[in-house]
Amino acid sequence: MTLTRSQFLEYLGKGIGALALAKSGSLFGSGKRTHNKPSIPSVKNSFPKFKPISASDQDSLILPEGYRYSTIALFGDRINPQGDTFGFNSDFNCYLPFNGKKNSGLLWNNHETLGVLEYYVNGYDSQKQGPNLRTDKQIEQYLYALGGSVLRVSKENGEWKMSPDSKYGRRINGLTEFRLTGPGAGSPALGNTNRAFGTFANCAGGTTFWNTILSCEENVEWVIEPCKLPNETHYGWVIEVDPFDPKSTPVKHTALGRFSHENAALVLSPEGKLVVYMGDDARDQFVYKYISKNSYDPSLGAGNSSLLEEGILYAANFEKGIWISLDLETNEVLRNSKLENGKARFTSQADVLVYCRDAAKICGATPMDRPEDIEIHPIDGTVFIAMTNNDSHGNLFGQIVRIQEKSGNHAGLEFDFEVFAAGGRGSGFAAPDNLAFDKQGNLWMVTDVSQKNLNRSVYKKFGNNGMFVIPTTGPESGKAFQFASAPIGAELTGLWFTPDEKELFVSVQHPGETTKDYQNPTSHWPHGGNSIPKSGVIAIYLK
Ligand code: FEO
Ligand code: CA
Ligand code: CA
Repeated sequence: MTLTRSQFLEYLGKGIGALALAKSGSLFGSGKRTHNKPSIPSVKNSFPKFKPISASDQDSLILPEGYRYSTIALFGDRINPQGDTFGFNSDFNCYLPFNGKKNSGLLWNNHETLGVLEYYVNGYDSQKQGPNLRTDKQIEQYLYALGGSVLRVSKENGEWKMSPDSKYGRRINGLTEFRLTGPGAGSPALGNTNRAFGTFANCAGGTTFWNTILSCEENVEWVIEPCKLPNETHYGWVIEVDPFDPKSTPVKHTALGRFSHENAALVLSPEGKLVVYMGDDARDQFVYKYISKNSYDPSLGAGNSSLLEEGILYAANFEKGIWISLDLETNEVLRNSKLENGKARFTSQADVLVYCRDAAKICGATPMDRPEDIEIHPIDGTVFIAMTNNDSHGNLFGQIVRIQEKSGNHAGLEFDFEVFAAGGRGSGFAAPDNLAFDKQGNLWMVTDVSQKNLNRSVYKKFGNNGMFVIPTTGPESGKAFQFASAPIGAELTGLWFTPDEKELFVSVQHPGETTKDYQNPTSHWPHGGNSIPKSGVIAIYLK
C-alpha cells in the first residue's frame, strides 16, 4: 500500500487508525498498546483534512484554508475577581474538564521567560541596561509574570472563552510558596528546609491520572541571575498543582531530579507503577525516567501524588539500550565517586537528585541533542522524544527519536530505539520541540528555531517557526506536513487537544522576540497596527 501526499490528505478525514495499523514501515511495527494507562476511546473521523501550508516569514498566525483561531487569554488579561493577570510568554497547556462536561473546565498555561521582551513587562531595557540593574519593583514584576495560570474556560456558541470572574482563576508565580517533597525535602542540599518560594522558567509539563498538573522548571538560571535570587537549588524541579483547589499549596517533587526539565510524560506500567519520562533540554544532557516504588490506586485520587515522592530515577544509555539507576544505595559508581579533595561526591540521595546531571554523567548516560518534549504513542506505547538540535556537534536541524521499551513494559530497564524523523530540507522542519498525539496516533509537532537563526542562512528555508503533523505508521510515516506558521519571532508551544479533538489549544510564545527597538517591534501579533506583541493562548478550530 503506497499513498501519495494527496491521498494522505484524503485519508486523514477517513479514520486513519485502522488504515495505519494495517501496515507499518517502522522499526517497531504497530503492535498493541501494552501499558494500562486508562484507555482512550477511539474517535472516528476526528482528524481534519487539510492542505499543508508553506513556510512563511509573515507576521501572522497562518493556518490551512478552512481553519481559524480565537485568542483565549493574552499577557496582562485579568483572570480572577482579585485582579490577578495572565503571565508572560505562554508555553505548556493542559485542559482538565469538569466532571462530565467536555466543554467546560480549567486550562493550565505555563509562563516561561521574559527574554528581550522584558521591557513590555516592567519597563526594563535589558539590551541597554544589562542584566543586573533592576529595581526591587521590577524584579517583583519579573517574577510575577512567570510560573503558570489556571484559567476557567468554556466553549460557548462555538468559541472558547476565559472567565475573568471565576474563583478558579489563579496565578502560581515566581513568588508563590511551595512545599518540597521527596528525598530533597529538609536536606542540607536544599538548605534544610521543606519550603521554597517561586516557580519560573516553566516550559512544558504533563497531567497526572488524578487530575493535577505537572509543570517543569527549565532554564532557571536565566531568572535566578537577573532576579538575584538566593537558594539556586530550590529551582530546576517538577512542580505539581491541583487546579481544582484554589487554596492548595503547590509542591516541588525532588524525587524527579533537578535539571533543565522540559516535560513530564506519565504512563502506568502493567503492574501499575507510575513511570515519568523527562527530557533535560540542554546540549549533551540526558533523558531520564522515574519509576514509582508503589502502584497507582485509582481509589486514592489525589493521594496518588505520593507516587512522585518515592521511587527510583534512571538515566538512559542509548549505546547499550539500558536505563541506569541513580539510586545511591544500590549504585556503586555513585557511592565510590569522589570530589577532588577525596571526599564522597554524593553523601545522600538528596545530593544525587540536586546534582542529577553529574550523577547521570558519572554513570555513563548518553549525552543527547537537547532532549525536549516526550510523549507516549497512544496506540503502541512507544516513547517519542524531540531532540531540538545540538550545534556543538553540527546537528543543526534536530530529530525525533522513538524508544521502544523491552516487552513494551515502561517500567523495564532495557530498550531499543530508532530515529523516527530527522529535521532538514527533506523533511521540511527544523528544531522539533513540543509534541502531542491525536487519538489516531498522528504526531503533532512544533518547532523552535532560535531567534539568532530564524529566517537566516541555512534556516531561511524553514521560515518562521511552525506546526507540523507527522503520521507514525503507514507509508507516510515520518513525513511532516505543515499545519501552521507562527508570527515573526514566535514559537508555537503547548499543543493540547480538547477531549473531542475538535479544537487544539496552542500558545503563541514570544512574538517579536527579534525586536531591538521597543517602539518599533518586529511583530504586532495579535492586534496588528502599531500594537506591541503579546504572547497568549489560542484555540484552533479543526472543523
Ligand atoms: Fe523551554 Fe526546551 O523549551
Ligand atoms: Ca519547549
Ligand atoms: Ca524550546
